[in-house]
Amino acid sequence: MSTILVTGGAGFIGANFVYYLLENHPEDRVVCVDSLTYAGNLSTLRAALADSRFAFYRQDIRDRAGIEAVFQKEKPDAVVNFAAESHVDRSIDAPEIFLQTNILGAQVMMDACLAHGNVRFHQVSTDEVYGDLPLDRPDLLFREDTPLHASSPYSASKAAADLLVQAYCRTYGLAATISRCSNNYGPYQFPEKFIPLLIANCLSDKPLPIYGKGLNVRDWLYVADHCKAVDLILRRGRIGQVYNIGGHNEMRNIDIARLICRALDKPESLITYVTDRKGHDLRYAIDPEKIHTELGWSPETAFADGIRRTVDWYLANRPWWEEILSGEYRDYYRKMYDDR
Ligand code: NAD
Ligand code: DAU
Repeated sequence: MSTILVTGGAGFIGANFVYYLLENHPEDRVVCVDSLTYAGNLSTLRAALADSRFAFYRQDIRDRAGIEAVFQKEKPDAVVNFAAESHVDRSIDAPEIFLQTNILGAQVMMDACLAHGNVRFHQVSTDEVYGDLPLDRPDLLFREDTPLHASSPYSASKAAADLLVQAYCRTYGLAATISRCSNNYGPYQFPEKFIPLLIANCLSDKPLPIYGKGLNVRDWLYVADHCKAVDLILRRGRIGQVYNIGGHNEMRNIDIARLICRALDKPESLITYVTDRKGHDLRYAIDPEKIHTELGWSPETAFADGIRRTVDWYLANRPWWEEILSGEYRDYYRKMYDDR
């Protein structure tokens, strides 16, 4: 039996990963550390909290003493670091917290791993560390050896954390791996992100804000496929290695907006073009060959199925996201979108 410490487990992907572990590894204990920022939601973990194999700590990963206390009590065998400030638009507005949590928080977690006998560490990174690709070169994909070339304060902070993980591997022998995944979608995604924002706005007959011309391309992956990949890397990945995760599913933003209008039977006239994001990355596209060849991973959820499941989830779980929309998020939305 192993104890796996998941940071950021009250957020979107972290929570999906907690449920993945509880379902697929009945022999394991899962310990979640999350400071419950605006993006963390304890109600997401309600079912996990009822499971005796799960423990939750409201704890900031930047707080060394607090993390040390969790390590002493729980003695984790592995750490999966999802905790982060994750929204590009917020990083453009206020970068500092991104550097603190995404870089220094990761360092605190790695130091704790070293101090407790070199606990296995996995850093959940992002394809955004590679920067972007041109729209007119479909032959180009991000590979693990593509140079880091971050565009936003968010992606720069994630790239810095990746460099630090690699430095800890080489200098101190930390038993670490890194994964770089493309855009996720699925249940429990905070409605500031593109797909849940479109769904929520459609359901309220509100305009669907499309940055620029809507031609930017993202490589979408259903969240459960990401969780499975991280779990495989944690158990069978080679120490010191980076693994890209993505499912060859590139879509233009405008096409996603049209698809969601159709799925919810809403008119495309809701689509509204607004001022572009500063420094907006044009295209992301992952080459997942390494994880496929080494670990046998392939995505299992076709986009049409995943998006249907996601739309159905938001329809069936209105209280979850309506509560978010009625809180401080209202001020965020006004600041970001009014007069844009
Ligand atoms: P999210 O914003 O939904 O969740 C982040 C979680 O981290 C929240 O629960 C929040 O409370 C917690 N957190 C933030 N700061 C913390 C701190 N200082 N201490 C403890 N907890 C803290 O993010 P997400 O979309 O689930 O992303 C999770 C991870 O996956 C991030 O590292 C992100 O960079 C990476 N990632 C995300 C995507 C995506 O499409 N969403 C794709 C690739 C990689
Ligand atoms: O690629 C992985 C990354 O994907 C993760 O590392 C990030 O944590 C995650 O937030 C996501 O970043 P993006 O910036 O790609 O995701 P976002 O949902 O913010 O935007 C997706 C695309 O949609 C992007 O091209 C911007 C556009 N967009 C977004 C919003 C919120 C709009 O056109 N309108 C919007 O209102």
